[in-house]
Amino acid sequence: MRNRVAVLHGINLGALDRRPAEHYGGLTYAKLEQQITRFGRELGLSINCFQSNYEGAFVEELHKASDYADGLILNPGAWTHYAWSLRDAVEIAGLPMVEVHLSDVDSREAFRHVSVLESVRYGKVAGKGVDGYREGLELLMKAWA
Ligand code: DQA
Repeated sequence: MRNRVAVLHGINLGALDRRPAEHYGGLTYAKLEQQITRFGRELGLSINCFQSNYEGAFVEELHKASDYADGLILNPGAWTHYAWSLRDAVEIAGLPMVEVHLSDVDSREAFRHVSVLESVRYGKVAGKGVDGYREGLELLMKAWA
């Protein structure tokens, strides 16, 4: 049975409560992790969270992910829009991945419309705040079915 999910947050997401509340809801990163863990419990999933501001550390976590997870939720922050190393690292991980963004990236600045993850993701959820992570987890469960 597959139920282990690695939830990886990238650059600047650790400082969520200091970012524009209209996009990120004024929530702390610790609270975000708590909520995601709760969604996981409700769905019968085991959640492992990781956050880094270092691209290399994030890539190394992706290299290890298949040792402890069956699927991935990724919110890489601004790396989403330019860090092609992440696209390749997801391919190496070889796990189904759902891209989640708190804000509605497609209705914000043009640079946020590009995602390096487009060709390696199973699905994408954006603009639904914390609840988007629940939807992301449900999508992952569909990917396993
Ligand atoms: C984000 C959207 C990105 O464009 C931005 O750089 C972030 C957060 C989101 O969750 O909405 O850092 O990934």
